[in-house]
Amino acid sequence: MVSRCLCLFLLVGLVHGSSLTADFYEYEHSLKRNMLQEDERKFAGWNKDLNEDEEIVNNYLTYLKWQEFQNTRAAFIPSRPIQDYLNQIKASKVYEVLKKFPKGGSLHLHHNHVVSKSIILDIIINSSLYENLYVKTSEPNKWKLDILVNPPEGWTKLKDIQDDPKKFILTKLTFLNVMDDQARKYPTDSAIRWSLLEPLFDRTGSSLVNHVDIIKKHTEALLRAALDENIQYLETKSKAGKKVYILDSSATETHGKRFIDTDSGDKELQSISSVVENFIKTHPEFIGYKRVVNSFRRYSKERIMNDLHKAVNLSKNYPNLIAGYDLVAEEDLGYSLMFYQENFQTLLAAHDKLPYFFHAGETNWPDDLLTSMLPEDPVSTAANLYDAIILGAKRIGHGIALANHPYLMKVLKSKKIAIEANPVSNMLLGYVQDQRHHPAITYFRYGVPVVISADDPATFGYDLFTADWYEVFMGWGFDLADLRQLANNSLQYSAMSSSEKINAFEKWIKAWNKFIQEMKTEACGLHFNSDQPFISNIFPRESYFPGSTKVEVFGRNFERSICQTVLCKFGDYTSKALYVNNNQITCNSPIYFKSSYQAERQKASFPFSISFDNGTTFLSTNLTFTFMPCYSRIKSVHY
Ligand SMILES: *[C@@H]1O[C@H](CO)[C@@H](O)[C@H](O)[C@H]1NC(C)=O
Ligand SMILES: *[C@@H]1O[C@H](CO)[C@@H](O)[C@H](O)[C@H]1NC(C)=O
Ligand SMILES: *[C@@H]1O[C@H](CO)[C@@H](O)[C@H](O)[C@H]1NC(C)=O
Ligand SMILES: *[C@@H]1O[C@H](CO)[C@@H](O)[C@H](O)[C@H]1NC(C)=O
Ligand SMILES: *[C@@H]1O[C@H](CO)[C@@H](O)[C@H](O)[C@H]1NC(C)=O
Ligand SMILES: [Zn+2]
Repeated sequence: MVSRCLCLFLLVGLVHGSSLTADFYEYEHSLKRNMLQEDERKFAGWNKDLNEDEEIVNNYLTYLKWQEFQNTRAAFIPSRPIQDYLNQIKASKVYEVLKKFPKGGSLHLHHNHVVSKSIILDIIINSSLYENLYVKTSEPNKWKLDILVNPPEGWTKLKDIQDDPKKFILTKLTFLNVMDDQARKYPTDSAIRWSLLEPLFDRTGSSLVNHVDIIKKHTEALLRAALDENIQYLETKSKAGKKVYILDSSATETHGKRFIDTDSGDKELQSISSVVENFIKTHPEFIGYKRVVNSFRRYSKERIMNDLHKAVNLSKNYPNLIAGYDLVAEEDLGYSLMFYQENFQTLLAAHDKLPYFFHAGETNWPDDLLTSMLPEDPVSTAANLYDAIILGAKRIGHGIALANHPYLMKVLKSKKIAIEANPVSNMLLGYVQDQRHHPAITYFRYGVPVVISADDPATFGYDLFTADWYEVFMGWGFDLADLRQLANNSLQYSAMSSSEKINAFEKWIKAWNKFIQEMKTEACGLHFNSDQPFISNIFPRESYFPGSTKVEVFGRNFERSICQTVLCKFGDYTSKALYVNNNQITCNSPIYFKSSYQAERQKASFPFSISFDNGTTFLSTNLTFTFMPCYSRIKSVHY
């Protein structure tokens, strides 16, 4: 509630026909502006409060963002194709700090496509299985990699292929390495990009990482990669099925692969479970892991039914491990959720409801253009959003098309259905060309819960979770409180039970406090020899007795105040200020004490000055701030 005064002298002035001062409009305007901004914040629903230490760290991040912007404004990285800027991102100070930022969980990942291809190759090359690692060279550009005994024609031992086999094969395994001129030329043509990406999923997928000796090392590498970037919790997507194998030369039909797993993939899950358990023992800051069972969205209804039953069985057998179910692959080419509606109905009828985490609305296409070539399924991609909501999805993957459906945004907000945003993936697959226009900014500010993840960082070829956070931080206008909310959302909207979440938040808060202390020390150790600050103007220049008014101070070179108490001085009255950025500081005008008799009759102007060193020295300006006398309050201001 904003209260203000209406001035007696002003009324008198009006009565006598004299004109209002420009300052009057400024004051009125500033009140409306504050109210509009405050209402906008409340609408989004996030807690933006920071304590004193967090305030300093926020100042520091804001300062680092400003520096990064100064260094990159002519080629602003979030607006550029990420493949050309990865090294620059990784070398930046912003990246270094964001890497340490406690991100909570990463909830939208495809299991076999997160650990760096280089690490997966090292794991195999370091083991005796290197002798069995073959590459299919018979069809150029359709490379395949597999662990085999006595492979068929057309396969060559990787070891024998080149002087530096690892380096050579890495050029065939990631999207960034196989991206062609056509893809570069048409950056929003997602179909071209998918056609390059999709074959890579097979190339270093399940057939490599599920050898009985590799699966544990692969899982460990996954958890380590996450924790190394301060991600404490993971949910990954993978199909259910016979996965774990040993090599056995008598299994001639499969060229040496003997599957020792069940049809539902129990062994794989048990193996992963035990690795996670051990990892938490040695890394108690790690929270945990859950699996989303997925199917390929071009499977027949029969096959989907079978997968759904597998998922239900698994979630009954491993209730703490199985999070739910999803459908994956290029949505524009696959079957719609409507197509499988009977399958979901069947589960519902059997009271076997699974939590759903559907990829939905990952498309550039308008609602009325049908992209799927499947004649029996005339439902457009964007329409999957309706069905995901009706089927009770807990979260929605990507949801790019939601931007064209503000009413559905409202539904997601009220049902607390989170959007899993994967900014780098969205850019690489042609859905978002410039991160400054990513639709998840709108979702977040609308109050739809948003989480940040990385989809397939290794198969894309950028490997690192923090690259997505760099894009968000630099391109989305987010501050420390916003980033904190993203981390919070990643635990709150995870598949963890409420008791698991209590434990998770405890671990996360520990990591948060550690981060704040470390960054505060860093921020307060900075020395600024740069140019002296100067003030260009304040807004508004006037307020009314007796309330305090938010006064914006504009100028340059405010960075020296990051770790300092900044004071604004209005005549003899000082008040504590808040660093906004290098060019802006906010302070509150003091409550001006005067007898009501005087206040009703006299306006009082005071010189404005500011201190960047907690009051030791004040920088004087030529600006004055005026308290207007008044005789009554008006209850509210409307913009
Ligand atoms: C592979 O072996 C080398 C040398 O023993 C070791 O330094 C490296 O960490 C190993 N890498 C993996 C991924 O196991
Ligand atoms: C699920 O479990 C039931 C009961 O054990 C079993 O009869 C059924 O075959 C399983 N379904 C699948 C698809 O594995
Ligand atoms: C997470 O966010 C929720 C809702 O915004 C809030 O109630 C809760 O206190 C937050 N938890 C932490 C640990 O910040
Ligand atoms: C700023 O100055 C006040 C009053 O002199 C003092 O109490 C306070 O501790 C100082 N704060 C800092 C952060 O130095
Ligand atoms: C104040 O105004 C005077 C005269 O216009 C000018 O010379 C001086 O530089 C100004 N000082 C500041 C701090 O702006
Ligand atoms: Zn995905």
